[in-house]
Amino acid sequence: MLFSKPINSEENMANSGKTVATTAVSDHIYPLFPNDLNSQGTAFGGLIMSILDRVASVVAARHSEHVCVTASVDAMHFLAPAKQGDTLVFQASVNRAWKTSMEIGTKVLAENSRNRQQTHILSAYFTFVALDGDKKPTIVLPVIPETVDEKRRYEEADIRRQTRIQNAAERKIRRQT
Ligand SMILES: CC(C)(COP(=O)(O)OP(=O)(O)OC[C@H]1O[C@@H](n2cnc3c(N)ncnc32)[C@H](O)[C@@H]1OP(=O)(O)O)[C@@H](O)C(=O)NCCC(=O)NCCS
Repeated sequence: MLFSKPINSEENMANSGKTVATTAVSDHIYPLFPNDLNSQGTAFGGLIMSILDRVASVVAARHSEHVCVTASVDAMHFLAPAKQGDTLVFQASVNRAWKTSMEIGTKVLAENSRNRQQTHILSAYFTFVALDGDKKPTIVLPVIPETVDEKRRYEEADIRRQTRIQNAAERKIRRQT
């Protein structure tokens, strides 16, 4: 795991927010062994989802400095299989924070251990909610996007949030009818 600046440095806390780089996980690696495979000889999807949730939760906890729970995961699409001998590379960073919730963008690559060629196998957006000592949602700091990509993800995250809120409202109505 790499993060380039110390958490809570003066620079990062300026403007009462945290930069993306301070909390990102850029290369959490997991070498695949035979017991990680399904009957097709490719990586078991549930294993990847579980590791990804943990990696994303570390980013949320680093950003909020609180215990965080997974509130939702947007659609998860497996784009390509990973095979025995591959090394999985997990990446996660905070896209945006609102009042008590944060969107964490994630990506998984399968790296061929012989030639180090990387294949993008999965991406997903997680929403985490920070909890206080009474297990109630608690305020989180804003995200300070710096790079062009971070600024794009920051803007796009708000559009995805609107969709989530709309979907949640529709689910609530369906439950009541
Ligand atoms: C996530 C949880 C804490 C939200 O609690 P709640 O009482 O609904 O809280 P609120 O309605 O005040 O919402 C709090 C925040 O969560 C967000 N949220 C709630 N449900 C959400 C969902 N399904 N998807 C995305 N965000 C959600 C809200 O938008 C709000 O964000 P904001 O404060 O940034 O505007 C609660 O539903 C919970 O504990 N769920 C179980 C979590 C869990 O066990 N996860 C798996 C194990 S870690």
